[in-house]
Amino acid sequence: MEKFLDDRSSLFYFGLAAGISVAATAQYTASFFQPPPLPAQEANFGEFSRKSETAAPLRGAVNSPLSTIGQDLESSPGTSKTIAKLEKSFTVTSQKLNEIVKHFASEIKRGLAQDGQTLKMIPSFVDKRPTGLEVGTYLALDLGGTNFRVCEITLDGKGTMRNRSKKYTLTEDLKTGTAVRMFDFFAECVESFLDERRSGGDPSIPGSVEFYKTLSNGHMEEEMLQLGFTFSFPTDQTAIDSGTLMVWTKGFTATGAEGQDVVVLLQEAFKRRCCLRYYQRVNVHVAAMVNDTVGTLVSHAYSNPQTYISVILGTGFNAAYVEKVDQIPKLKGEPGSEMIINMEWGAFDDEHSVLPLTPYDRQLDRGSTNPHRQTYEKLVSGIYVLLDLVSTGELFSGKQCAALLIPYGFETANMSRIERDHTFDLADTKILCEEVLDTQTTYDDRRIIRRVCELVGTRSARLAGAGITAVVTRINRLDGCTVGIDGSLYE
Ligand code: BGC
Repeated sequence: MEKFLDDRSSLFYFGLAAGISVAATAQYTASFFQPPPLPAQEANFGEFSRKSETAAPLRGAVNSPLSTIGQDLESSPGTSKTIAKLEKSFTVTSQKLNEIVKHFASEIKRGLAQDGQTLKMIPSFVDKRPTGLEVGTYLALDLGGTNFRVCEITLDGKGTMRNRSKKYTLTEDLKTGTAVRMFDFFAECVESFLDERRSGGDPSIPGSVEFYKTLSNGHMEEEMLQLGFTFSFPTDQTAIDSGTLMVWTKGFTATGAEGQDVVVLLQEAFKRRCCLRYYQRVNVHVAAMVNDTVGTLVSHAYSNPQTYISVILGTGFNAAYVEKVDQIPKLKGEPGSEMIINMEWGAFDDEHSVLPLTPYDRQLDRGSTNPHRQTYEKLVSGIYVLLDLVSTGELFSGKQCAALLIPYGFETANMSRIERDHTFDLADTKILCEEVLDTQTTYDDRRIIRRVCELVGTRSARLAGAGITAVVTRINRLDGCTVGIDGSLYE
């Protein structure tokens, strides 16, 4: 293994490694959202073309999928009425999108000017983008939402990298218990990841045996390993290796973390492991911490220098971009330099002034662990609508469906599968309802379910497109730039 550098400038490398740990990034060009030509560098949503389109939700940002499935099968007039009602409440018009983009522009400015605004616009202290020439092998730990991973990243200096990682499950108990317990678990996982390498490697970590051979100098346990931490929550950073958790999101409530420096919490967990393992030290130093958006941006820029923006579309929803320091009044940094900003845009419009909230969105918000927070984030998911249609008798003839009553029980992956169902009688949707919801369906039921999935997915895509448009406009790159995107929803 190449020696870990220990000067301050090398911290950037750990930030980069932390970033790569989240990066199965997909390239997405901002120009995709632009109906050209655009006057005076101002983004505009023209009318969407109305052709039938059944691709992934983000494509829906451009083409409105009108359901044509099963037109040759008889469907009741009641169903068509229900569908028309749903279309009305879920369709986001071009005018609305333009309003959202405008509101975004002023919120971005406010967030850059002062702390305590709706958009937190957090400086990441990552003040340059990689060149692709960086080399070395680094340890990273990635806490996203659904997954927790330990990774070993090797940068080859040619814009490509290798990532050996192992995924661990974070149980609800850990997410909602105490911070000490949760951070102890992270340290345990890193320890077991390192143990597996020492003892000749775990076959589930590709390449780890080879890595172990490189290390077999007999001094492994004495070596100080530097680690980059991807921590995907709003964190007020004061340096690349220091930041206070402002508030939990995504259903996490572990006590004793909010208001604390998460780098210190993790470092202390490693110290506790050291005491426990008197026979072999777990010698890890937490060298850098980045948000997943910042990590996605730098890791994507490592192979594509035109990357100026990144978006996470997963359990959570957020973006980062490269800003000029002289445009960040609250930072008082060095003019001429740049800084990656973690926008924390999930909180956009928490005051409910512009986003088109339906009664379903309000219901989802009320039932969440963080009511009145993360409004934009919550709008880009959510399937409460099916429950309501059961209660009005428009779905399943009003027969209650127990599986739908489980909060977050209907996964996004199911929505995607339903949208991909091209059979004339929606046969795959029928199977899915039997398997996942334990419910028999009529063709009318399936038409409604399918349309709800399309509408929610398309709305998410358009709203996400509005945010990206606002940022592309802000940095004046309407003629094209790359947006690195990652996350389970996008995938
Ligand atoms: C968090 C962000 C994070 C996003 C995506 C949000 O809930 O507040 O910090 O980037 O989820 O993981």
